Amino acid sequence: MTLLHWFLIALGLALIAALGVLRSVTWIESRQARQLEEKGPYVPTATAPTSRTAVVYFSRSGNTALAARHVAKRLDARLFALEAPDYRLGLIGLVHALHDANALKSKPKALPDITPRTIDLTPFDTVWIGSPVWLYSPAPPIWAFVENNRFDGQRVVLFNTYNSHFGDDYVAALRDKVMAHGARSFEHRHVLRGRMTRQLTPDEMLRAIDDEWFAAQSGR
Ligand SMILES: Cc1cc2nc3c(=O)[nH]c(=O)nc-3n(C[C@H](O)[C@H](O)[C@H](O)COP(=O)(O)O)c2cc1C
Repeated sequence: MTLLHWFLIALGLALIAALGVLRSVTWIESRQARQLEEKGPYVPTATAPTSRTAVVYFSRSGNTALAARHVAKRLDARLFALEAPDYRLGLIGLVHALHDANALKSKPKALPDITPRTIDLTPFDTVWIGSPVWLYSPAPPIWAFVENNRFDGQRVVLFNTYNSHFGDDYVAALRDKVMAHGARSFEHRHVLRGRMTRQLTPDEMLRAIDDEWFAAQSGR
């Protein structure tokens, strides 16, 4: 066998291994999403439609969605979900997510389509914005949401769910963008779920949110 043959065999094995990792990540994500879908449903109270607090979120596999429902219930807030069909659960969505999160680092204008594109935020004093962390940064749909909307005079609270690490520099860049779009202030909350094989359970995540985000003040 020539060196080229060995190289091609090694390349093939590396590709099979990478595909295997991506497939198991997708399997875990889909299972999580199914389990989380029914958990902690959000039922607006009689006062929620007039609330001065909004919770806007993007979630691919359901964890940020669960955090968002929890925050909205605690604050009696209006809840808005952002959809980004490019990143639906499954291998293709995962590959798009990785590609676009990476592309955004060098091309800040390469933003995905989201639905809704804009939300009338004028009735609100406070806007909580929830996102998973993708490649150390809030996910691309959140950058698109901030790009398309105004936050004049509002207190904006970014919240992230993540597995291991996020980059302070990306959070600072998002803060600058939010402030440039009119916000009065910006805060950041985050909950570390842990790496795939040893993560917080959904109940543990909600307890961490209660302890870490809402311990000191009412959170409004
Ligand atoms: C494309 C992609 C990239 C990710 N990158 C990171 C990362 O850089 N750091 C991290 O801690 N978690 C990372 N994660 C894990 C997610 O942030 C974490 O599982 C999050 O809680 C998922 O939220 P969701 O269920 O609302 O989609 C990544 C997940 C995906 C799909």
